[in-house]
Order: sequence, then structure tokens, then C-alpha cells
Amino acid sequence: MRVLRRPDEARAVLAGRGVGFVPTMGYLHRGHLELIRRARAENPEVAVSIFVNPLQFGPSEDYERYPRDEERDLALLEAEGVDFAFLPTKEELYPPGFSTFVEVTGPLVERWEGAHRPGHFRGVTTVLAKLFNLVRPRRAYFGEKDFQQLAVVRRMVADLGLPLEIVGVPTVREPDGLALSSRNVYLTSEHRRQAAKLYQALTRAREVAKAGGSVAEAEEAARAVIATIPDFSLDYLAIVDPETLEPLASWVPGARAIVAGRFPEVRLIDNLEVYP
Ligand code: PAJ
Repeated sequence: MRVLRRPDEARAVLAGRGVGFVPTMGYLHRGHLELIRRARAENPEVAVSIFVNPLQFGPSEDYERYPRDEERDLALLEAEGVDFAFLPTKEELYPPGFSTFVEVTGPLVERWEGAHRPGHFRGVTTVLAKLFNLVRPRRAYFGEKDFQQLAVVRRMVADLGLPLEIVGVPTVREPDGLALSSRNVYLTSEHRRQAAKLYQALTRAREVAKAGGSVAEAEEAARAVIATIPDFSLDYLAIVDPETLEPLASWVPGARAIVAGRFPEVRLIDNLEVYP
């Protein structure tokens, strides 16, 4: 595995290769590894970036304390047979004078995560535009775990006519249903136990949908499960169109239940297709 640190070096080495690309913020878990395996299966060469992107964190968010373990991450990438690891510094990706941003606009970014994390998606799309430009991937892989992020990235790529394919990969979960996340390490043991109810709420919505319930009934059933989680403050729970993320009044194929909220020590998000 070749480790690239400087942006100009990454650009030169990756030019013309058309790799499969997995952008990450590191502290890798089985969710990230699933994206890497999929990229490996579909591309002759794979590049993974690790960069905790300051632009996508709000001032009161966890940029400084975001978990980092470069040595462990590089060993995992090596073991997965990754060809290129790209680990730029923030000083080189955002040098003094940096003042260009890529921003998707409209309801797709204003709702849900966008409403609770102002500027977040602008940070995500700006860093991805830079990374895509340096890496020049043929395909890039994103988790459905961050369902709105996946939709926003697809929008940016379509709108700018970027020459790559965006591939979405299903969420990898713990045995109790909790979606894997680098931030799960913050959870106290009691909240870790309670966090499984997020997935239970989503599956409850799916059961109601399958039993012939309405969107409102499915949403209400999920809300009732969330209400039983102590110390958890709900940011949103909704059943939405899988492409526009607009709230649904009646079922459409692929209807998605999305949820986000906070324990005092960590914010969690999850989603599930509830109507096949
Ligand atoms: P990060 O949170 O490290 O996630 C990197 C990729 O892994 C994202 O596409 C995310 O959706 C995916 N992922 C995370 N948990 C997953 C799980 N349990 N199952 C499947 N996939 C999962 O998302 C980011 O970083 C950043 O916003 C980034 C895209 C790298 C831009 O900075």
C-alpha cells in the first residue's frame, strides 16, 4: 500500500488510474471496511482517504475530540489490500487564503441534518469536490448510514457533471441493530445499550408499513419507541421520499424512515427503508 500525504503527490500518482475511492474521516470500523470491500470488488485499484475535515464541523461540535488512530487505520487498510491511502493535512488541503466553497442549495440541504448542523453539507461537498479533483476516481463509495449525505453528494455530482459514479452501500450494524459509527465510542455503557432502540424504532415503522399502516401510523409507532429512551433528545424522526428527502403523506417505493437525536455525550443518526 502506498501512503500519500501531499495533495500534489496524490494527484500525480493517481492521475489516469480511475481508482475506486472511499473517502473517510478515519477511526475505521466495519462500516468503512464494507465500503472498501465493495470498492475492491468493483475496481482494479482502490484509494482510501483519511481526513477529519474541519470545514464540516460546527463551532460547538467535536472536531478537536473526534477520535483518531492513524496507525491502527493504516494497518486495517493494509490488511484490506487497499492500494493507496491518502492522508492530507488540513494545512495543505486548506492553505492560507483558501476561499472557494462548493455548496448544494435548496430543501435537500436545508432539511434534517442541514437544519441541525448549519454549514455541515457545505463542508462535506467542498472537501469532496477537492478530493474528487485530486484522486480522479472512476467510482466513489458512500454509506447509506449517512443517507442525506449520499443524496447531497449525488446531487453535486449530477449538477456539476463530475465524471464519476457514486455508489451507495447498505448500513453495517452491531448485532443489536446499532449502526456502526466512529462516534459510538463516546457512548456511556448505559446509553450504548439504549441506543439500539433507534434501530428498533425504525424496524417498528417498517412493521407497521408492512401490516398496511399509513405513513402517519408508522411514524407514530417509531416515535413511541424513541420516547422510551432515557436522556435522549430527538432532533427529528420522519418518513421521507428516498430521493428528495421530502416528508411523505402516503407511501412511495423506497420510503425511508430517518432519525437523529442526542445523548448528552453524542449525537446519533440512522435510517431504514420502510416501504419496499
Ligand atoms: P465518515 O463518517 O468517516 O464515513 C465515511 C463513509 O463511511 C461515509 O460514506 C459513511 O456513510 C460510511 N459509513 C459510516 N458508518 C457506516 C456504517 N455503519 N455502514 C456503512 N457505511 C458507513 O462521512 C464522512 O466520514 C465524511 O462526511 C466524508 C464523506 C469523508 C467527507 O468528509
